[in-house]
Amino acid sequence: MIQFDSTHAFLKEDILSYQDKVNQCHEALMSKTGAGNDYLGWVEWPYQYDKEEFERILKVAENVKDKAEVLLVCGIGGSYLGARAAIEMIQGLYPKNKTEVIFIGNTFSSTYFKQVEDYIKDKSVVLNVISKSGTTTETAMAFRMLKQIMEKKYGKEECKVRIIATTDKARGTLKDLATKEGYETFVIPDDIGGRYSVITAVGLLPLAIMGIDINSIMQGTQKAYEDLKDSSLTTNAAYQYAVCRRILQNQGKDAEMLVTYEPQMSMVAEWWKQLFGESEGKDGLGVLPCSATFSTDLHSLGQFIQEGKKVLFETLLLVEHPTMDGLFPHDDDNMDNMNYLENKSLDWVNKMACKGTLEAHEITGNVPNLILTLPDMKEFTFGYMCYFFFRACAITCYLLDINPFNQPGVEVYKKNMFRLLGKD
Ligand code: PA5
Repeated sequence: MIQFDSTHAFLKEDILSYQDKVNQCHEALMSKTGAGNDYLGWVEWPYQYDKEEFERILKVAENVKDKAEVLLVCGIGGSYLGARAAIEMIQGLYPKNKTEVIFIGNTFSSTYFKQVEDYIKDKSVVLNVISKSGTTTETAMAFRMLKQIMEKKYGKEECKVRIIATTDKARGTLKDLATKEGYETFVIPDDIGGRYSVITAVGLLPLAIMGIDINSIMQGTQKAYEDLKDSSLTTNAAYQYAVCRRILQNQGKDAEMLVTYEPQMSMVAEWWKQLFGESEGKDGLGVLPCSATFSTDLHSLGQFIQEGKKVLFETLLLVEHPTMDGLFPHDDDNMDNMNYLENKSLDWVNKMACKGTLEAHEITGNVPNLILTLPDMKEFTFGYMCYFFFRACAITCYLLDINPFNQPGVEVYKKNMFRLLGKD
């Protein structure tokens, strides 16, 4: 499904020499004996997901589709990025859905909030608030304001069917509030952390409301589970990728740039940055995850990659079959001298740009390139890709002796902010 190619990466160590270490990490993951082992619910989730809740997601999504011109998804970090990444990857940037999705509760920007408030004023709205802890300030602030706006517009009774909470199954502020108000609730499992939660109700409910085939997403995760269940570095592409990241960091490459050639994949890159950045960046270790969309960013970051300090390697996340394509037209006057491209497919041009850039960065620029190729940008592939990166991320962190499932560093800004905001 995902093809991995490390032949453009100038690796100075043999991937297979990591087999013993990878076996140990794999064993720690599968037997739940490694660091952060209380957050390994995602490992078996492709098969062990809650089937009853899944059916309820489909049912609620059908009801919401009829009600909502706008779906507000209120959440941040792992409670936001996955759904947005999936919707953009699968439906593109300008989908023709009856329901439009707007993400909120992921910033303190007053302008952003007020603009959304103004935009939804005369529209029919459904709100899905997503927070595992229920106390995340960005989300809690936005939710209180939206709740009041919606209660004023629809009344408390109607809000019972227009506000849906995705949160902890039993505890927390949001759970208590949802129970008191009589909202429909969905569960973020205890043993699945935010950045691994897109394949739970966190991602699946907004996706189903947007008309995305969530069955196919789960089938994609199952296929990835099967393909990646053996730890052999001759066959397991996720583990090969995990090892290559370690080898390249040993060669002094402390930054990884995830490169896509599809604008609708740029939120996938944001999701990937959270997954790897929050999982690996601790104890003074880790590869800095950054991203670029080419060829757009070849006209900005391209210069640095080509000739700047040699701190990074690129991971190309390519798509074999574009969702849409067309032919470049002939022009009788040819004033723009573009007829040399007539009748060429638009995707062929994109692929040639990719080929030329790879050659420039690798051969002239001496920048190592890893290549991951997805067959398409459909649901099944999205599910597969998520699980692929989950596995790769866990193993690459275990290879560094890092707990991939906590994020202690995130608390520091919060403490300072709470002091400044006057919170007890
Ligand atoms: O990966 C994580 O755990 C975090 O990014 C959280 O998802 C994020 O901080 C939001 O937390 P919560 O869902 O508790 O509001």
